Amino acid sequence: MATPKALVAGNWKMNGVTENLVEIEKLNDLLGQGAPGCDVLICPPFTLIHQSMQVAGDHVEIGAQDCHANIAGAHTGDISAAMLTDQGCKYVIVAHSERRTDHGETNEMVRGKADAAQKEGLTAIICVGETEAERDAGDALPVVTSQVRESIPAEAVVANTVVAYEPVWAIGTGRTPTTADVAEVHAAVREVLIERFGTEGANVRILYGGSVKPENARELMSVDNVNGALVGGASLKADSFYGIIQAYD
Ligand code: 13P
Repeated sequence: MATPKALVAGNWKMNGVTENLVEIEKLNDLLGQGAPGCDVLICPPFTLIHQSMQVAGDHVEIGAQDCHANIAGAHTGDISAAMLTDQGCKYVIVAHSERRTDHGETNEMVRGKADAAQKEGLTAIICVGETEAERDAGDALPVVTSQVRESIPAEAVVANTVVAYEPVWAIGTGRTPTTADVAEVHAAVREVLIERFGTEGANVRILYGGSVKPENARELMSVDNVNGALVGGASLKADSFYGIIQAYD
């Protein structure tokens, strides 16, 4: 099986109101100048998904930032995977470290969400990553590999799973790991994916996330087993996000 196209995904987090949709429109226009060498995804807040679909054009996919593990029911304020497919989403991020921290999401909870997403035909972008204290203690690899073992459902295949390695200490800080550190973690993630899912695991995309910018994207995206990026701050503006996508020219 050929390695799938890289994926550059923007996570808008809790940012964006109607006036910011112009950035998605502009991004689609920029991408229209020449086919990008990667898939391009924006995950706006739930409130903007419908409107984002109207302006995303042919070049930008729209996804979501979270979903519930159940398909429907008495869960005030939550959104199900079925609601996301109903809106035309193809991807949903689960297990972002901000959800693990702010909402106490465990590997088991994440697996339930990813499972619900996959059963609805969505591709789950499953985030993993160590804290600074865990890295300083020399535990980055065991932490990340156990997240990969415990957060990814047993039915994972290339079409329904993307893994995103986001060291917590690199998110929104302007700090990034060395390329050697990225290579080491991505190789360890790949090893577990192959052990669990065979050929599919060999081809599941593994994204790097954490302070990716146009200035460092080319270097980070050239590391072995880095199959794209999950971008926060730099995805909010079309120009900077496009600058990252150009790493795949
Ligand atoms: P930044 O790119 O702002 O560091 O955020 C990364 C991230 O958390 C994407 O999910």
